[in-house]
Amino acid sequence: MTPQDASKRSAEICQLAPVIPVLVIHDAAIAGDLARALVAGGLPALEITLRTPAALDAIREMAKVEGGVVGAGTLLTPDDVKAACDAGARFGVSPGATDRLLDAAEAADLPMLPGAVTSSEAMRLLERGYTVQKFFPAEASGGAPTIKALAGPLPQIRFCPTGGITLAKAPDYLKLPNILCVGGSWVAPQEMIDARDWAGIEALAREAAALAR
Ligand code: 3PG
Repeated sequence: MTPQDASKRSAEICQLAPVIPVLVIHDAAIAGDLARALVAGGLPALEITLRTPAALDAIREMAKVEGGVVGAGTLLTPDDVKAACDAGARFGVSPGATDRLLDAAEAADLPMLPGAVTSSEAMRLLERGYTVQKFFPAEASGGAPTIKALAGPLPQIRFCPTGGITLAKAPDYLKLPNILCVGGSWVAPQEMIDARDWAGIEALAREAAALAR
């Protein structure tokens, strides 16, 4: 898959809803219920971070949920790309980008949303053909004003910011023309997952899905 095609597919996925839940899953047994709650609430694109031993099994379970589009986050190495694809991930997300990682994703036909923060990082990805990029860590890197400033010289890049974004902060991002959606973990708080509060998580998803873009 070319970087151009990867960005086209990433843009489609980012436009499914205003928010992509960023999920850290410790128990794959709850993955199906969690995904069903988020999809029912109107958030079909889900990012499962490869940060826990349960993550790949969780992707396998979530990939079966009707209406969901399940991706793998925190992809750092070519091995991560392979593991994500084998588990059924339909897109990949990375906090940054390396040539080895992008080579692997392109060879595996995995649409990647690679991360950038500075204009040089964004330009490097643009030079390779990635016009859709993650902006991470968003709040710690200046948040919406920084992304707004990047639109001046780099209007052709569109971002999915993640890191520190909340329901209250999301509108500041979503109103910018160079933002496709935001990512965040606030729609699936660990204490609600632990309590198996699927109705509560569905309600948080519904609230997030109703955010204006
Ligand atoms: C992450 O990689 O952890 C995401 O950016 C989510 O960040 P958040 O937990 O601050 O929403």
